[in-house]
Amino acid sequence: MPIRRMLAASVLLAPLLVAAPANAAPTVYEAEGASLSRCVVESNHAGYTGAGFVNCDNAAGSYIEWTVNAEAAGTTNLHVRYANGTAAARPADVSVNGTVAGSPAFPGTGAWTSWSRATVPVALLAGTNVVRLTGTTANGPANIDSLTVGDDGGGPGPATDWSDEMVRSTMERFTPSGIGGWSYPVALYLFGQYQVYLRTGD
Ligand code: GCU
Ligand code: CA
Repeated sequence: MPIRRMLAASVLLAPLLVAAPANAAPTVYEAEGASLSRCVVESNHAGYTGAGFVNCDNAAGSYIEWTVNAEAAGTTNLHVRYANGTAAARPADVSVNGTVAGSPAFPGTGAWTSWSRATVPVALLAGTNVVRLTGTTANGPANIDSLTVGDDGGGPGPATDWSDEMVRSTMERFTPSGIGGWSYPVALYLFGQYQVYLRTGD
């Protein structure tokens, strides 16, 4: 592989590289089965799985806490299924056993009935782990449907195009002025984005 292509690929793929999953089979934990702080179970927006979804107070600090079980210690991905019918992101901290593992932006999904997923790579302990999702802004978290522990290929529908997803989430978080001016990583990112454009036309 030519060096420039290799570098671009490494920029696009670096966040996706995690060690072998701790658990082979993905497990879905519904939000309505979790313990809730300043949140309620609702079912007035279609498209949820299970008995409903969780609507937390629009306030920083409202949270959903799941107890998840891992057969063995190791790394895996958490996938949070959510809807955000507003134009503003609804960032939330996702912590494992008290340590924040990631803070996805939970960008708008277009409607409260349109559900998407945010993924956080985590390290789990063997046995019981406490996963908590806490809204970090005055808007609180998005509506949360479920937490899937382990990769399931994205659920029903086409598998996730991770290069495209990386570009989408980067564009969501940065503006041309906010990305910090020219740098080698920025140039590599843009090269990678161009490659995605050539492949997808988007
Ligand atoms: C609306 C919507 C709720 C949502 C809330 C919010 O009220 O019906 O499901 O949780 O907005 O802004 O958080
Ligand atoms: Ca809410």
